[in-house]
Parts: sequence; structure tokens; C-alpha cells
Amino acid sequence: MDNSSGFPVLSQVQPGYLRDMLPDSAPDHPEPLKELLDDVSKKIIPGLTHWQSPSYFAYYASSTSVAGFLGEMLRQDNEKVGKTSLSQLVVYASDQTHSSFRKACLIGGIHEENIRLLKTDSSTNYGMPPKSVEEAISSDLAEGFIPFFICATVGTTSSAAVDPLVPLGKIAKNYGIWMHVDAAYAGNACICPEFRKYIDGVENADSININAHKWLFANQTCSPLWVKDRYSLINALKTNPEYLEYKVSKRNEVVNYKDWQISLSRRFRSLKLWMVLRLYGAENLRNFIRDHVNLARHFEDYVAQDAHFEVVTTRYFSLVCFRLVPVDGDEDKCNERNRELLATVNSTGQIFISHTVLSGKFILRFAVGAPLTEEKHVTEAWRIIQKHASKFIHKKKY
Ligand SMILES: Cc1ncc(COP(=O)(O)O)c(C=O)c1O
Repeated sequence: MDNSSGFPVLSQVQPGYLRDMLPDSAPDHPEPLKELLDDVSKKIIPGLTHWQSPSYFAYYASSTSVAGFLGEMLRQDNEKVGKTSLSQLVVYASDQTHSSFRKACLIGGIHEENIRLLKTDSSTNYGMPPKSVEEAISSDLAEGFIPFFICATVGTTSSAAVDPLVPLGKIAKNYGIWMHVDAAYAGNACICPEFRKYIDGVENADSININAHKWLFANQTCSPLWVKDRYSLINALKTNPEYLEYKVSKRNEVVNYKDWQISLSRRFRSLKLWMVLRLYGAENLRNFIRDHVNLARHFEDYVAQDAHFEVVTTRYFSLVCFRLVPVDGDEDKCNERNRELLATVNSTGQIFISHTVLSGKFILRFAVGAPLTEEKHVTEAWRIIQKHASKFIHKKKY
């Protein structure tokens, strides 16, 4: 017994004990904090091994301290592959895919020249064209390469573009390719029925992730990943050192997440997401998201009503991509003006917007997602942008 907490140092519960004690889905309505904390102490804590107990002498310690805790708070924080030569493996994504995809490929040993980032343009609102994917796969097969992974994105980083999962999923299935869906930002919106259409076809994907820390109020970092066939991961990553062997793991009675990831140690990230789901309830979370989307729509209306500006891409979620319009078709000068406008607006310290480049156009990004943002903040942001844009519009005869 751990003298300080009254709980056994090593959890004494049986694998799976929690399944029947917890509901299958998040509550629609908020639950009182007291009830949640009662559940934490009565249901969750008995399942924990107390790594901080003074009577913990196993493995090596995982020490914590008040200073470390404060720092954390301040910080805010295919089997097919088998013996195949890595140089034959080819992966597909679009030129809008997040840079972490390239990094992941390099870590995984994929040769840089085998990373196909397929071109997108305004004709698909920057979504990945399935035809290009199929043509690239056919051409790679003809040259003896092995196409093995497609990364589709729902809500790209630059413009929240949506790759069409239904046709991409069919292609992946036809060629026996793993399809991952990166729904880091926009996947969160799919808790609302009206946004679920953007992940139509996800049933044909092999894996999907969201960043609950982006738009589901779970603090950095919390990135749930679902995989259709967990054994693809486990067979690749399982290690069985004697010092980690327990009867329950030998008998496969527990899900051992050490076999799903590279590192062994991991944080209890699901706890904060579970608290968010219970304390707010699914309906409130849906409404938070809807509010943000409405605020973005509001900003989009402001832009659309000002002839000096244009909305550049179709808005699906809470990101508006816009810019000062070119004068006399001069795109270079237009880019320069927008770059200047961004720097000026951000230098006020009053608001912070970011930018991207799409089809050679320098674009301003207005992404609503901060929990405290209200209509007045959006209105004020537009006032500041217009005020600083007027310098270019009038003084520079733009
Ligand atoms: C679509 C998309 N994927 C991946 C990431 C990176 O996520 P993480 O910071 O969790 O690696 C981002 C971050 O902005 C993103 O927008």
C-alpha cells in the first residue's frame, strides 16, 4: 500500500475492469465537476500504477516535481513492406499536405525522391485530385516501384482544403495501399453532423488522426489516432523484453500502447480529453465549433463587402483566406502589398493573423479557434485590417 495515497502502488484491478463502468459515448450535456472527480478517484485511479509513490522501486523512476508541473502548466501547452527495399516504396500526398508528413517519411526511411507531392490548384479548391494520384501510381508501378501509402488531408494547413476521401479510398483499396487521413484541424468539426460530410469515405481509410488540442479544447498536445487494423502497428513495433512481460500482456488481455508507438513512456493524454468531453458535453462542444464557424462567416462577409479585398478560397470551416485584390492585374505588386499589410497589422500587437502562398498568391489567413473569441473581436480585427489597408489603397493609389 502506498502510505501517502491509500492506493496500492501497483494497480490491483483486472484488465478491462473499466469498460463496464464507463459509458460508450460522450455525454451530450455537461456533467458536474464533482461527479467527474468522484469517477476519477473511484474508477480511474484504482487502475493506475503509482509511479510517484515512495514505495515505487520498479523499472526506473519517472520523477515529477512541483517545479516541473508548473513548467508544464506555463508551457501550455504494411506488411507488404516485409523485406522490400526501402528504395522501392513510394508515398503520395498533395503539395498542401502538412510538412510533418515529409518528416515522418524521412524518419520511416522513405527516400525523399519517392515522396510524391501532387500538384493542386484552385480548380479543386486545393484538394488532392484523385486522377493525379491514380496516374502517379500507374507510372510508379510501371517503373517497378511499390506504392504503399496515401496521406489525404481533411482541412489542410494553408487553406483548410479537403481531399476527396471517397475516390481516394477506392484507389487505395484497388492498389492495396494504406490510406491515412490527416484531419488534425477539421476532423474536430466532424463532431457536428453538418460537417460530417467532409469525412465521407473515411470508412475506407486505414487510419485517421485529429489534433484535439487544435479545436477540441484539450490543451497541447493531444492527437488521437485511430487505426483500422491495430496489428499492422503492433507487428511492426512490438518488443518483448523480459522486464516488461506480464501474464495479461502475454495473454493479449490488455491493449499495450507501447506497441503502437516509438517511445515506451507516454503521458496520460486521454484523461484531459475525457474531462473535456464530460465537463462540457458533446452538444456544447458542437456549439463552440459552430460559433467559431459563424464568426469566420462573419469575417468573410466583411471581406466580401469591401471591393479592395477578395476571399481567395471557398471557406468550409473557421478559416478565411483573403487578400487585397491586385490592381491592373499586377500580381507581384499585389503580393508585396499583402505582405506589407500583414507585417503592419501584426506589428500593432493588437491582432495576429498569418499567411500562406497558394498558386503564387500571397494570402492572409484569418483562423477563428481561440476559446475566448467573440464577435466584437472579429469586428475589431476587421477594423484594424481595413485601417491599415487604407494606407495602401489611398496613399499608394492601390
Ligand atoms: C493538417 C495538419 N496536419 C498536421 C499538423 C501538425 O500537427 P502536430 O503539431 O500535432 O504535429 C498540422 C498543424 O498545424 C496541421 O494543420
